[in-house]
Amino acid sequence: MRAYDIIYKKREGQKLSRAEIEFLIDGYVEGEIPDYQISAWAMAVYFQSMDAEETADLTMIMAESGDMIDLSQIKGKKVDKHSTGGVGDTTTLILAPLVASAGIPVAKMSGRGLGHTGGTIDKLHSIADFNTALNLDRFFDNVNQHGIAVVGQSGNLTPADKKLYALRDVTATVESIPLIASSIMSKKIAGGADAIMLDVKTGSGAFMKDLKEAKKLAKAMVAIGREIGRDTAAYITDMSQPLGYAVGNALEVKEAIETLKGRGAADLRELCLELGAGMLELAGQAEDHAEAKAILREKLNNGQALAKLKQMISAQEGNPAVIDDYSLFPTAEKKVEIKAQKDGYIKELDALKVGLAAMLLGAGRENKESEIDLAVGVELKKKIADRVTKGDTLALLHVNDEKNLAEAKAKLTAAYSYSQTKVKAKDLIYEKIT
Ligand code: URA
Ligand code: CA
Repeated sequence: MRAYDIIYKKREGQKLSRAEIEFLIDGYVEGEIPDYQISAWAMAVYFQSMDAEETADLTMIMAESGDMIDLSQIKGKKVDKHSTGGVGDTTTLILAPLVASAGIPVAKMSGRGLGHTGGTIDKLHSIADFNTALNLDRFFDNVNQHGIAVVGQSGNLTPADKKLYALRDVTATVESIPLIASSIMSKKIAGGADAIMLDVKTGSGAFMKDLKEAKKLAKAMVAIGREIGRDTAAYITDMSQPLGYAVGNALEVKEAIETLKGRGAADLRELCLELGAGMLELAGQAEDHAEAKAILREKLNNGQALAKLKQMISAQEGNPAVIDDYSLFPTAEKKVEIKAQKDGYIKELDALKVGLAAMLLGAGRENKESEIDLAVGVELKKKIADRVTKGDTLALLHVNDEKNLAEAKAKLTAAYSYSQTKVKAKDLIYEKIT
């Protein structure tokens, strides 16, 4: 087999066999096939695409390029959840204890944040002493004992995806549906999921800005799940404005706790109930969606989901007192108000700009090496469709370092636009794909 012939074949729009894809990917990981040939292949895929079978083959080859976490020591059907990333997306911190309290084992490996999107692992570090680096034995023990553990990705997971993603990033080949779908799904498979619930975000703060593209991505990932025998479902949800009111690490953990206490933002609560219900259905633990949602509502109302979070914090060496005493969280030195410029209704609240404002204050990473400030971020007071009067507080910046404050203020101010007539609230969930 020769790399040249495989590139040529894809360039001509033909279907590649599993053996051909394996030859390319394995050869690339082993350093036998150079960057320039894989770049040419990725560009051919960008233009010619891949069908469901090729995409599933690529997914499995990438998943098997490194460690495959074996979750068979954990009893029950393991349903993982993945969000394609957004601003103020605190769902994992709510969903994990919520579904765990309903009996689904949660063995979750999460990532750190990059750019304007946050990461669950960073957020958890705003709980003093919380350990996200459990070894695999303790990870399994915790899930078996408490039904839940959330840790950082460890070991040698999907090296083929790491190498290919870095190459795509510099060769203008990121935006290919089969390449994105296989990249995401390979990591979930390597993480040991039996079933996968996907939250594909769309809107300005999302990776997929356009609803049509988000739908294509969701369909491609659900098709991969079908090909490889992992039940997969996807929701397409709104990320044109941030989720909930808090954006920033400690701020979002507090928001998650509020939601688990039955308070908190309505959109965040609703999305968690929907995604959680989808997870219960995938796990076969509910007759139908309505029953699944009712079970989860009960777990929120009777405090069992909150108790599960507390149990997880203790089991991972964190201080569970944070749940009742928010002063134990890192807190910013000052709050800076952003005020409404005129009377009217909020027409847009650009999630990307809000995310960038939070990042400028130090809540997010500009590059992989950046240090982040867990205390800082943005607290929204008004969102799309809210009525405002000139001078009302739209949002608060939680600030420590004032170096980028002026720029952050400008970004957040520009995130808001106004309408003189009533604005319809945004749909939260556009579609479910199964
Ligand atoms: N996220 C991923 O994990 N992979 C991609 O290719 C794009 C986004
Ligand atoms: Ca939020």
